[in-house]
Amino acid sequence: MDFEPDDEILSSKEYVPQESPDEFNSLIPNQLLDFVLRSDASKVVDTDLFSVMSKRRSTRKFLDKPVETAKIDKIIAAADTAPTAGNYQGFEIFYLKSPEKKKQLIEACNNQPYVNAPVVLVFCKNPSRVKFDFPEYILKKFAIQDATLAAGYSQLAAQALGLSSIWIGMFDEQKVMDVIGTNLVPSSVLCIGYPKQTKFPKPRRNLKDLVHVTW
Ligand SMILES: Cc1cc2nc3c(=O)[nH]c(=O)nc-3n(C[C@H](O)[C@H](O)[C@H](O)COP(=O)(O)O)c2cc1C
Repeated sequence: MDFEPDDEILSSKEYVPQESPDEFNSLIPNQLLDFVLRSDASKVVDTDLFSVMSKRRSTRKFLDKPVETAKIDKIIAAADTAPTAGNYQGFEIFYLKSPEKKKQLIEACNNQPYVNAPVVLVFCKNPSRVKFDFPEYILKKFAIQDATLAAGYSQLAAQALGLSSIWIGMFDEQKVMDVIGTNLVPSSVLCIGYPKQTKFPKPRRNLKDLVHVTW
């Protein structure tokens, strides 16, 4: 196994949610995660998962309105609830706050201007966290699935909180890594904010064409 250990997150600061439990008890599993998920329930605009799914649309035009910290905390917490291979959580989230770095990220993302969104999260693969004794290509496969699924959970959480998002997959991996300061390979960039307008869902394949029943 030739992955580097978890020292690949080179230049980030510790993330501290807006609110934390009064008394932290390390014996209570997921104490902080559950606290963030449950807190500020009034911020949740839509609690019907299927409604959230049906209304989510990619947004490339955001209002110049900051996203409340409590909402950002929930979006990040949502990612942490996603299933991961072996529960090893083979991914990391980089929360890019610097306006200057956001501008650099636009260039790293094929000059897509909406990358300069109010909230920018970069989801990276971290196969070194996946401790299965499997070949390297399997661990990498797990890490990309972990990171992708986590970003999907965050995207749905953003929608539930009355926000909108754009998933960015078109980027130069090395340039993104240089901007955020890591050796970990990004899998997606999630740009989030208040949408300028509400859009109708895009057409999809008919379900009967999508599903191939196999006996
Ligand atoms: C893997 C992946 C990569 C994507 N990359 C980009 C991208 O680089 N730029 C962009 O504007 N949209 C990107 N999108 C958003 C898609 O264009 C969008 O999800 C699709 O058109 C369906 O529209 P909807 O999200 O509104 O349903 C990407 C989506 C996915 C899932």
